[in-house]
Order: sequence, then structure tokens, then C-alpha cells
Amino acid sequence: MLTAAVGLILTGVQAEEILGEGSADLIAVGRAMLRDPFWPRSAAEQLGVTIPEPRSYEGFWFPRGFTEGG
Ligand SMILES: Cc1cc2nc3c(=O)[nH]c(=O)nc-3n(C[C@H](O)[C@H](O)[C@H](O)COP(=O)(O)O)c2cc1C
Repeated sequence: MLTAAVGLILTGVQAEEILGEGSADLIAVGRAMLRDPFWPRSAAEQLGVTIPEPRSYEGFWFPRGFTEGG
């Protein structure tokens, strides 16, 4: 049976740990995603992975920090 984990998953490292150790097949992120709508990108960066901008956004993608005003 496939299972999902939810609740206080805040970082990419935490998410990867849950998936990597097989504790769940899927993670769901609630409040952390509301706080940071770019959470997948932030989580990927924490894991040393860069998600490239979608091709249709080329030249229009928010650079890191843009939405935080920095
Ligand atoms: C203000 C608030 C409202 C919520 N409303 C619902 C809801 O209507 N239905 C539901 O299934 N879960 C609801 N939840 C639970 C979330 O879907 C989620 O399971 C919970 O926030 C834990 O995940 P998180 O720590 O990533 O936010 C709510 C959570 C919060 C904080």
C-alpha cells in the first residue's frame, strides 16, 4: 500500500530523508508551501540541485530573493 507523509515537513533534507528511508512514498507540504511558494526550488537547492527555469519563463523567471524583496 502506498502511503503519504504530512505534517511539519519543512526542508528538502527532511523530505528526502523520509522518502529515502522508505518511510513514505509521497510527501505533502502544507504551511511551508504557503510561506514559500517556491518551496520545491528551495528544497532542491538545499539538496544541491538547481531546478532550471521553465523554457516558457526564460528571461522572466524571478531570480532568487526577488519575491523576498532582496
Ligand atoms: C489553518 C489550517 C487549516 C487546515 N484545513 C484543512 C482542511 O480543511 N482539510 C484538511 O484535510 N486539512 C486541513 N489542514 C491540515 C493540512 O492539510 C496539513 O495536513 C497540516 O497543515 C500539516 O501539514 P503542514 O505541517 O505541512 O502544514 C489545515 C491546516 C491548517 C494549519
